[in-house]
Amino acid sequence: MKLTIALSKGRIFEETLPLLAAAGIVPAEDPESSRKLVIDTNHEHVKLVIVRASDVPTYVQYGAADLGIAGRDVLIEHGGDGLYQPLDLNIARCKMMVAVSNDFDYEAAVKHGARLKIATKYPQIAREHFARKGVHVDIIKLYGSMELAPLVGLADAIVDLVSTGNTLKANNLLAVEHILDISSRLVVNQAALKLKYSTIQPVLDAFASAVPA
Ligand code: ATP
Ligand code: PRP
Ligand code: MG
Repeated sequence: MKLTIALSKGRIFEETLPLLAAAGIVPAEDPESSRKLVIDTNHEHVKLVIVRASDVPTYVQYGAADLGIAGRDVLIEHGGDGLYQPLDLNIARCKMMVAVSNDFDYEAAVKHGARLKIATKYPQIAREHFARKGVHVDIIKLYGSMELAPLVGLADAIVDLVSTGNTLKANNLLAVEHILDISSRLVVNQAALKLKYSTIQPVLDAFASAVPA
């Protein structure tokens, strides 16, 4: 039975290779060097499709891919409709945080009930976080380089992913609030899981046994 797995290039692809290997799946090509978007594997019936990280849930939801790997950030923003999420893979780990310029007094702004401009790629997560805190915000949707926004006066704060903290430090920003711990999850099309159970379940089991600590 055919199996299609949706992955994004970069860190998710790299960190997924050992999990695929545990399931006996070896890609025939490296998507970093190939321009191909459908990558064959050592199994005639298993293919990898290479999509944008934020598009993985869409491909799986509509059944264009049976399985996919996506960050918790992406899954929250997309919503879980039609997606079964059986496994936290503990890869691509980072934190969703609020960050501001070194010279911005965030605590004081919050205390005084200021309305804050928040630049982010994650409007859903940001909106929920500030609603929970009772802070009024205007969300400015960006697609990348969030760290620039406070430096040029586009926003008072950002909501973005932080791992080493190097990007914040290099741009004179400071993390002031932790919103969520993020890692990547396996997502499975619910109909495919039923129809292709005997093909998909062994892959899920192999992934589960190879999840890094
Ligand atoms: P898109 O192409 O949709 O804009 P992207 O290019 O930012 O996404 P990646 O940077 O590969 O895609 O991020 C994929 C996932 O890896 C994210 O959804 C997140 O869960 C996680 N991630 C992002 N940045 C980091 C980081 N610095 N360290 C660890 N994990 C990260
Ligand atoms: C991510 C994220 C931060 C950075 C944080 O960007 O959007 O900018 O990593 O990591 P750090 O704390 O280790 O510096 P990424 O490297 O994915 O770049 P891009 O998404 O803007 O292409
Ligand atoms: Mg990124």
